[in-house]
Amino acid sequence: VPGPKANELEVSIFGPGYGESILIHIGNKSWIVVDSCVDESKQPAPLKYLKSIGVDVKTDVKLIVVTHWHDDHIRGISNVFRECETASVVFSAALTPKEFFTLAETYKSIPSLASTGIQEFSNIISMLGRKKDSFKFAAADRILYRQEATIDGGKKTIQVSSLSPSDMNIERSFHQISKMIPKDGEKKLRLPSLNPNNVAVALWVQIGDERILLGSDLECDNSDTGNWTVIVNSSLLIDSKAFVFKVAHHGSPTSYNPMVWNRVLGPNVHAMLTPFVNGPHKLPSDDDLNRIAGFTKNIFVTSRPARRKYRHPDNAVQKRLEEMASNLFVENGNFGHVKLRKEIDSNREPEVELDGAAFQFSR
Ligand SMILES: [Fe+2]
Repeated sequence: VPGPKANELEVSIFGPGYGESILIHIGNKSWIVVDSCVDESKQPAPLKYLKSIGVDVKTDVKLIVVTHWHDDHIRGISNVFRECETASVVFSAALTPKEFFTLAETYKSIPSLASTGIQEFSNIISMLGRKKDSFKFAAADRILYRQEATIDGGKKTIQVSSLSPSDMNIERSFHQISKMIPKDGEKKLRLPSLNPNNVAVALWVQIGDERILLGSDLECDNSDTGNWTVIVNSSLLIDSKAFVFKVAHHGSPTSYNPMVWNRVLGPNVHAMLTPFVNGPHKLPSDDDLNRIAGFTKNIFVTSRPARRKYRHPDNAVQKRLEEMASNLFVENGNFGHVKLRKEIDSNREPEVELDGAAFQFSR
């Protein structure tokens, strides 16, 4: 399969049913990776795809963004970081107490207190010492990558900026960390919770005149000055509207802010999303998809929010399995890939290709 041409942008989104990873070709063989997930063979989906289209990940991946440290966004991310040797890695400036103390303990060379949930974070942190100047904190209105490129003989500005976490949430994370440091005679406190979805990194990608909004899992945070309202008012978003939106938090109502759709996104924006399935929790719901359909007819989902049942080819074995467990599912078995390509700054419509379990939603 050929990769995108030098003058084409690509937005690819991968989802195995539980997990999400996004790749963007920003022109001239340069790529950015946003989060990571694994496929059925447990390989990081973004690496496998890039290699399949002949990309040299060592040199051509410029930026890796870890939007937040939830399991469904980081599987395989330390492998991505290891193989993409020249890329910078970005993560939220608002660390949760768990991440903060993992970072602090790495500096002290003390074995980490980390649970498995934070292992990928710990792996990356321990690699940072070997890759000098290769990490950046994301925060509202911060330029993470900028380059003047010549595409089709014309000069284009390529820029990737973070739109979150907000200053208020960074301050909140400092406060939570400070609560963890015991005063004399006090017992160490339990880790307070800071929802990583409230400090997730949303991104604004500019490629010439093209604009792409990646919503990560950023939720609204239930207030008038919630996360998405802060973003809608960001000075970075004044000049133009996005034609692609990676819908925030798998289309959940808690991440929905109509101002985003009315003011930041263009008409019939290409909305791309992955499902989230964890026990009884399933996103997006039919209501979520219908809400999105009120804004655009271009809705692409990597798979239905359902798990694929496992069936052993041998009936006797299958019967025995059913005696042991009522329901068996294939891990990462609902894998889909949505690929959008567009000639940069041309009037031609984007082309969308669907692989695996991916589908276009229509009412
Ligand atoms: Fe997620």
